[in-house]
Formats: sequence, C-alpha cells, structure tokens
Amino acid sequence: MDLFEYQARDLFEKHGVPVLKAQVATTPEEAKKAAEELGGGVVVVKSQVKMGGRGKAGGVKVAKNPEEAEARAKDILGLDIKGHITEKVMIAEGADIAEEYYFSVLLDRSNRTYLAMCSKEGGVEIEQLAEERPEALAKIPVSALDGINAAKAEEIAKEAGFDAETAAKVAPVLTSLWTVFEKEDASLVEVNPLVKTGAGDIIALDGKVSLDENADFRHKDHEELRDDSAENPLEIKAKKLDLNYVKLDGQVGIIGNGAGLVMSTLDVVAYAGEKHSNVKPANFLDIGGGASAEVMANGLDVILGDEQVKSVFVNVFGGITACDAVADGIVKALEILGDQATKPLVVRLDGNNVEEGRAILKEAANPLVTLTDTMDGGADKAAELAAAK
Ligand SMILES: Nc1ncnc2c1ncn2[C@@H]1O[C@H](COP(=O)(O)OP(=O)(O)OP(=O)(O)O)[C@@H](O)[C@H]1O
Ligand SMILES: [Mg+2]
Repeated sequence: MDLFEYQARDLFEKHGVPVLKAQVATTPEEAKKAAEELGGGVVVVKSQVKMGGRGKAGGVKVAKNPEEAEARAKDILGLDIKGHITEKVMIAEGADIAEEYYFSVLLDRSNRTYLAMCSKEGGVEIEQLAEERPEALAKIPVSALDGINAAKAEEIAKEAGFDAETAAKVAPVLTSLWTVFEKEDASLVEVNPLVKTGAGDIIALDGKVSLDENADFRHKDHEELRDDSAENPLEIKAKKLDLNYVKLDGQVGIIGNGAGLVMSTLDVVAYAGEKHSNVKPANFLDIGGGASAEVMANGLDVILGDEQVKSVFVNVFGGITACDAVADGIVKALEILGDQATKPLVVRLDGNNVEEGRAILKEAANPLVTLTDTMDGGADKAAELAAAK
C-alpha cells in the first residue's frame, strides 16, 4: 500500500526523522486556517496524490502568508496530476533550503536483499540524474540482519560523497529512516529532497512510503492509513471477503483455483479473445483450495458486480478440493445469488472426481451454465459469449 506524503511524514515524525510542521486541508479555507496555525509565515502548499512529479505539474507552490495559501490551495485542489485528482493538500512550513539530497531504501528483489540509494544531488531531477550520471547515485546493499546502523549510515554518506561534516549530520537521519522502514514493515522509504537548511539542519521535506500489506497483522494502526477513495471499490469488497482478486480492464470474468492456473487462464482467455472482438480477461481471482459454496458465491458476487463483465469463465482443477465439491459450490452459489446472477458462466472442471462434478452441474441444468471439456475450449466459449453481448 502506497501512502500519501502527509502519512509518510507522520511515520517519519513517529520514528524521529526530522520533518517540518504540517497540516492537511481539503478546502481553501482550511488551508488558510492551517497556514495561520503554522505561524502565519511562509508555507508550501502541496498536492497530496499518490503520484510522483507533483512539483513539475504545478502541485507544489510557495505561499508567503495565509491569504496566499488559500489562493494556492484553490489552484491546487482539483488539479489533475497524471490522472490523479488532488483532493487534499498539505500545508507545510516553508524551509530555507541550502542543499537538496536524495535517499531511499527499498527491497531489492533481484539481489534478495535491501538496497539504499543516496545522492548529494537530489530534487525534482533525480530520474534524469539516475539515467545520465548513475555514478552520482550511490547504491549500497543493506543486510536484513544489520540494517542501517551507525556504521552503515556512515558508509552510505561517504559513498554519496558528502563532506565529513555533512556526513556526520546526515548519517543519524539515515538510521532513523531505516527504523521507519524496518519497524513499519515498508518495502520502500524514499526522501526527495532530504535538505540541508541555511542553519545546517537536515530535514526530510518530502516522503514516499510503501507498506508491505503482508505484515498488516503486525500493524493494527496501518488500517487507518488506508484511503478507500484511492482504491478500486471491487478490490476493497474482495479484500473484505478475503478473496485474492485483482481488477483488470476486460470483459471475461475469471475464477480459478491456484494462482498459477488463474494466471494461465488469463493468458488463454486473452489469446482466445483475439478472435472474438478482442475481449480480454476482466480480473484475476484465485479462490484457493477450499472453493466452498460461500467462497464461490462471494467470488461470483464480486465479479458480477463489475459492469464491464459480460461472461465468466470458471476454470477449476480438482486436486485437494474435488470437482464435485466445486460443482456443488457453483450450484449453491447460483442459488444464493438468485436474480443477481445474470451473466453466462462457462465451467471447465478437470481432475479429482470430475465425472461426479459434471453430473452435478448437468443435473442442476442452470441455463446460465455451459460446461466445457478443455481449458482452451472454455476460454474460447467465454470469449465468444462476452463478444456477443
Ligand atoms: N516545505 C518546503 N519548503 C520549501 N520548499 C519546499 C518545501 N517542500 C518542497 N519544497 C520544494 O519543492 C520541490 C518539490 O517538492 P516535493 O519533492 O515535495 O515534490 P515533488 O518531488 O515534485 O513531488 P514527487 O516527490 O511526488 O515527485 C522540492 O524539491 C523543494 O525544492
Ligand atoms: Mg519529491
């Protein structure tokens, strides 16, 4: 889960990373009030969207007094930044910036470790720097066991080329940022810019944090950070039902058991769709091992709630869960859903107890259900039905 800047700022503060005072506003009036409460001096009005490049898109503006803050908030609220509409702004104290640096720590999957990146030349052009002068961006592996302790922080600061005095000030901030990364179970903590002020203080002026949702059970407080308005409503519903569901942009709903089978089902449906008006898979949904009537009903309920969906392909390989149990699940799910089930269902069953499973579906003879023998055949039929709608 990606956080908004103001949420990242709060986590930074919690773990001792130096940040500036700030407040969130959703209207220009609130922005004015926030600027007053911050002392009435210079503030920066910043668009809160989960998207980079805000400054360049006009989403970060300086305001000299509360009246200006109100005016800038009026400009920025509603601003579209690469498809993300600004619904909140953060009003932050203005910093007297002497130098801008870059720091990040992230999970480096390809090397099976963590990676810290640091540069003396931070700011809005960091992507360009990384491309044109990669040597100016130090990259240092960080071991999961030691993390960024004092020695590691010094090493990073030295590699980034800071002079001794600045390195001594930057290093403790890097250690605190590692604390955020570790204690909050983040997969990314990025600060751009990390600044040195005229007075020589190091402050995190911007923050990007992604949290690892697999560790949510350790962080009851992370639930509050979730902002449903930024997420797809069907995915939220699926999450509440404990389903592994990802919304995609097609017309053929997909239900399968096992992530691998579902992935290959997406492929065969996309391939079959090429012959049928280019219809595509509408989602990824892995109902896992159980496949009880309830899970099947929940899955169908989420998929049928997607207006784009024209047909559904249920592709199940009976292993631990036998096909007759799955067939039972489908029949009961259609009973539970009643009139809500209106779209054609193509079902392919194979594996353990397949004959019994097919017999159950034939017996039920639901007009919405078409049985197929093969995965390719099922994909083709589902695509054809979706295209015909
Ligand atoms: N509180 C502040 N006081 C003074 N200047 C600021 C402040 N916050 C940001 N700035 C200036 O604005 C620039 C852009 O701000 P920021 O890094 O927050 O947004 P951004 O980098 O454009 O957005 P993103 O990180 O989403 O790409 C900073 O590099 C800094 O020069
Ligand atoms: Mg930035």
